[in-house]
Amino acid sequence: MTSSQQPPTLKHVLVCGGAGFIGSSFARNFLAWHPESRVTVVDKLTYAGNTANLSPVWSDGRFEFQRADICDYDRMALLVAPADAVVNFAAESHVDRSIVDPDVFVRTNVNGVNTLLRAAKDAWGTGEMATRRFLQVSTDEVYGHVGEGATDENAPLKPRNPYSASKAGAELLAFSYHTNFGLPVLVTRGENTIGPYQYPEKATPLFITNAMEDKPLPIYGQGEAIRHYVYVDDHAAAIDLVLRKGTPGEAYNIGNDEEVNTVELARTILGLLGKPDSLMRFVPDRPGHDYRYNLDYRKIVELGWVAKHRFAQTIRETVDWYREHEEWWRAIKAGEYREYYERQYATLER
Ligand code: NAD
Ligand code: DAU
Repeated sequence: MTSSQQPPTLKHVLVCGGAGFIGSSFARNFLAWHPESRVTVVDKLTYAGNTANLSPVWSDGRFEFQRADICDYDRMALLVAPADAVVNFAAESHVDRSIVDPDVFVRTNVNGVNTLLRAAKDAWGTGEMATRRFLQVSTDEVYGHVGEGATDENAPLKPRNPYSASKAGAELLAFSYHTNFGLPVLVTRGENTIGPYQYPEKATPLFITNAMEDKPLPIYGQGEAIRHYVYVDDHAAAIDLVLRKGTPGEAYNIGNDEEVNTVELARTILGLLGKPDSLMRFVPDRPGHDYRYNLDYRKIVELGWVAKHRFAQTIRETVDWYREHEEWWRAIKAGEYREYYERQYATLER
């Protein structure tokens, strides 16, 4: 094992995008899993960022919040310098929005990630690199539609929508900083993730909250698109593991083997909520829809990751959380969200 592969001591972790869905799970859990460590969350607080997601740790003496944009080099340089690791969740993350307006996806997901990488390279310098880590959180979408079989970490990247293309660009930039500057970069590629605090534009929280309001569940095309659903805390645990034990310069898939199509997802949610299947409404398909992803995730299992949740438990706990936290999602659905919803689902009520 070379010095750059020694598991580092991560006393202080900078969590970019930590007011979003997965980043906030990581920040909350990281503080609980590592009582000797502290976390600084940096987040621009776009429509998807919400400080309420961090309320369980807000008053923890080991937690700090900074509002900033990852595209702001000066702020990032100051924030990155004292950190032992950067874990970057910050991104525009919704595929449908990327099809309507790609520019902001390139700005944050490509330029922003480059700014963060440059800040880390400059702040850490070559001498201190070995004890630091830069983990870029990526997605299974970089492999594009997978008609047959499974993609391992060496499969070619073939992204097919502006979101996944920007995420692939971010990864490639990150790896280039490893190759050219020795930055200890790690990349994770996660499957669809669900659980508490997910903004209700993504299929699962959208279906749950619409069903609770007796509104239709918009299903794209025939509802045959296949996804795998990982529980958010399991995803956070996988990232924590890669951060500590992963080999710099490598990517790690995070997934499971339970294929679920959109109709099955909707039916399961309706069943758990005691609502009728007639709430399912078939609407025009997503352009460029990737109909299937399927990860070969043996590498992260070999590293020691064990997912605690299977799909049945994942979806049950997720539905229960939205039932018990109506104030959280009703506040979101009353705001800017309504405009987005009416635009995106214009055909739904006709
Ligand atoms: P999210 O949209 O809930 O959160 C993104 C966060 O980034 C928000 O808090 C937002 O305010 C912040 N942000 C956006 N632009 C920023 C900027 N310029 N500067 C600073 N902060 C900014 O997303 P999520 O679902 O939690 O996803 C987190 C990461 O995980 C993303 O990188 C996404 O690509 C990746 N990912 C998501 C999933 C999934 O199913 N949700 C699966 C695999 C990978
Ligand atoms: O695969 C990982 C990716 O999962 C992440 O990188 C993305 O950040 C995250 O948004 C998610 O992307 P998807 O496009 O797979 O997730 P979404 O919840 O938007 O859609 C899941 C499936 O449900 C997909 O096949 C499209 C379908 N769908 C989605 C919405 C929003 C519908 O049928 N109707 C809908 O209204």
